[in-house]
Amino acid sequence: MNDDDKAKFTRPRPVRESISEMTEIVLPNDANPLNALLGGRLMHWIDLAGAMAAHRHSRTYVVTASIDHMDFLVPVRVGDFVVLRSSVNRVFRTSMEVGVKVWVENYRAEQSRHVSSAYLTFVAIDAAGNRIAVPQVVPETEDEKRRYDGAARRRDIRRTESAQRKNGRS
Ligand SMILES: CC(C)(COP(=O)(O)OP(=O)(O)OC[C@H]1O[C@@H](n2cnc3c(N)ncnc32)[C@H](O)[C@@H]1OP(=O)(O)O)[C@@H](O)C(=O)NCCC(=O)NCCS
Repeated sequence: MNDDDKAKFTRPRPVRESISEMTEIVLPNDANPLNALLGGRLMHWIDLAGAMAAHRHSRTYVVTASIDHMDFLVPVRVGDFVVLRSSVNRVFRTSMEVGVKVWVENYRAEQSRHVSSAYLTFVAIDAAGNRIAVPQVVPETEDEKRRYDGAARRRDIRRTESAQRKNGRS
């Protein structure tokens, strides 16, 4: 990589460059016997949508390090559309927090409802699996700045809880 390429790779990038959207139609294979979307399938889509934003921002491979607590607020039925929007909230060193917000869209009822929100942490790695530093992200809008500030608080909580879990195991 020459110096120009290196500078291009490491320059801070605005949140908007990471914004990703993914839409799925819920099929019978995604649902339980009552035609309601399986929670595990939604978590899989959330992981994918989150990874898209992390890849777009970091321009490298990533692994999912953690997914915070999630609630499923309304049921989703076979035939509904599930819309997932993601963006990078904040970069730390090799890790970044990504937020994913999920809506269910029912085109017959012309209705769109919030189903779930999730915060995921992805760690950037190179092709050999070594962790690598991620370029900083620049929040521009009021919402992006709020999420950027919130991400630091959430990281503190994650670290405290992780230490408590480790102490509990020892
Ligand atoms: C995620 C992983 C790379 C972290 O490795 P590690 O040896 O614990 O690394 P470190 O303690 O040096 O942490 C590296 C970064 O990851 C972050 N991190 C590690 N565990 C984390 C967790 N559970 N939640 C959030 N962030 C975490 C650290 O805060 C650090 O971030 P920073 O560089 O921005 O400060 C490693 O645990 C791993 O490979 N896990 C498996 C990932 C995977 O396969 N995911 C798919 C689902 S199975």
